[in-house]
Parts: sequence; structure tokens; C-alpha cells
Amino acid sequence: MYAFITGATSGIGKEMALLLAKDGYNLILTARNEAQLKLLKTQLTKAYHIDVIIHPMDLTELVSGADMEGTSQTTQALLKLLNSHPPYISILSAGAGIVGDFCNASFSSEKNILELNIVSIVVLNHILLDIMPEGYLMNIGSIAGFQPAPFQAIYAASKAFVNTFTLSIQKELKHTGHLVNISLLAPGPVATDFDRRAGVTTARSGMSPQKCAKRALKQMFAGKKLIFPSTITRLAYYASKFLPLSLITHLELYIQKKKL
Ligand SMILES: NC(=O)c1ccc[n+]([C@@H]2O[C@H](COP(=O)([O-])OP(=O)(O)OC[C@H]3O[C@@H](n4cnc5c(N)ncnc54)[C@H](OP(=O)(O)O)[C@@H]3O)[C@@H](O)[C@H]2O)c1
Repeated sequence: MYAFITGATSGIGKEMALLLAKDGYNLILTARNEAQLKLLKTQLTKAYHIDVIIHPMDLTELVSGADMEGTSQTTQALLKLLNSHPPYISILSAGAGIVGDFCNASFSSEKNILELNIVSIVVLNHILLDIMPEGYLMNIGSIAGFQPAPFQAIYAASKAFVNTFTLSIQKELKHTGHLVNISLLAPGPVATDFDRRAGVTTARSGMSPQKCAKRALKQMFAGKKLIFPSTITRLAYYASKFLPLSLITHLELYIQKKKL
């Protein structure tokens, strides 16, 4: 059985790949960095008797000129690969953030985040729910998507989309009898390369990506719909339900400002 993982070269996606390889799943791994993908393939095929297919691609290319019939070359190539190796598990971990003052931000960087975090997720969910007859699909949103986040406005809003979109189609799939189990992983801070890439200057502490991936997979296989990889994140989510939005937004202002 194949597991398809985006964002497989780093952080949570890479840890998911290591864990699923250990469990004997064949892998289809994607990210932009071909050299890192090749390295990971060598490491995994040496350690385990599994097939590892690497498919380097920039997921934002699924957006430009793509339609669901697959008219763009990027979409066609991915469709061909997934049709010939229908995954039983799909983990959509690729994502990126951006911190800073909205008024001084470059629109092209913001557009890139929106295309990666939102549009590519929608395109991939369409493709995968069409191809996968059954199994597990995990979209990675964020705890940041459950409330406003000043100085991280674009990222938090993009993850609000992933969170709501996933929980909505989850209900639809159950209603229509689709056999794919779709779950939303909503992590709090995880110690990966994410912050550095997002332009965070003050390092935050966070849970390890290994722990995050292990707990997330365990809950996914148990059929959990909304997955929090840590108790603190789960508590923060439920506690936020009892606080006024204005207070949460105010607190977020101070939390996010520390990252600048
Ligand atoms: N870390 C956290 O604190 C945290 C908290 C909540 C939610 N999350 C979410 O968790 C997910 C994984 O994040 P992470 O912490 O593991 O981050 P990470 O270590 O920065 O990994 C991001 C992965 O996405 C890939 N990627 C980035 N842009 C891409 C593009 N345009 N096309 C294809 N692949 C691309 C990267 O590979 P290449 O550079 O090789 O393309 C990398 O493999 C993200 O969706 C993030 O929003 C993270």
C-alpha cells in the first residue's frame, strides 16, 4: 500500500515518511528539493524493504493554468503518478508561513502562501478524493487557524481556510458515504524549519516533529477527525471557546509581535 506525502523533505512531513516507512508502507514523496528527496529515498530504501517514489514539484504550480481535467503539465504528471499508484494514505503537510507587518509585506510572497496553503490543498483534495477508493487523508491546518493572528494575518487566515474546509468536507464525506477517512491535524508550535522559513527572528520552543507525527498518525488511524498533537494545544483550543474574540486577538497581538 502506498502513502502519499507532501512536504516530505522537512519537519512533520519528513517524520510522517519515516514512521510510515517503518510500518512497511510504500511511499510517494513530494517537495521542491530534489536532492533532499533523493537522499531520503536512499535512506529509506536501505533501511526498509519498501518502494519509494519521489516526485519533485512546486505545489504552487498546480494552480497556474491547472484545471481539474489536468490541462497543466504539472497536474497531468501528478495525476498520472497517483492514478497508477492510488494511495491508501495521503498526508498533505507542505505549507509555509509569513510573519510581519501586512502593510509592508510583498504581495508576491503572500500570493505564494495563499497558493500553497489554500489552492494546492483544494486541488489535491479533489484529485485524491477522486482517486482514493478508501483509506486516510490528513490535511494539516493549525491552531493558528482558529483565531485572528495580528502580524501573521495571511498565514492564520490561510490555515483558517484549511481548518474549516477540512471539517466541512469531512462531514460531507460521512453524509455521502465516501470511504476515505479525512482528518484535520491542528498543531501548535512544532520545532521544525518552519519558523526560519517564515521569517521569525525569535525562536519559539515547540514539540518535536517526531512526537507530533507519531501522535498524529496514531490518532488518524484511530479515526479521530480533529487531531491535536499535544494536550496544551487541545486545552488552548477549548479554552479559547470561553474567551471573547477581542481578548484572544489582543493576546495574539503580543504573542505574534514577539516573533518579529
Ligand atoms: N512548525 C509549526 O510550528 C507548525 C504549527 C502548526 C502547523 N504547521 C503546519 O504543518 C505543516 C508542516 O510544517 P513544518 O513545520 O513541517 O514545516 P517545514 O519544516 O518548513 O516543512 C515544510 C515542507 O513543505 C515543503 N514545501 C514548502 N513550499 C513548497 C512548495 N511551494 N511546493 C512543494 N513543497 C513545498 C518543504 O519542502 P521544499 O522546501 O523541499 O519544497 C518542506 O518539506 C505546514 O502546513 C504548517 O503550516 C506547522
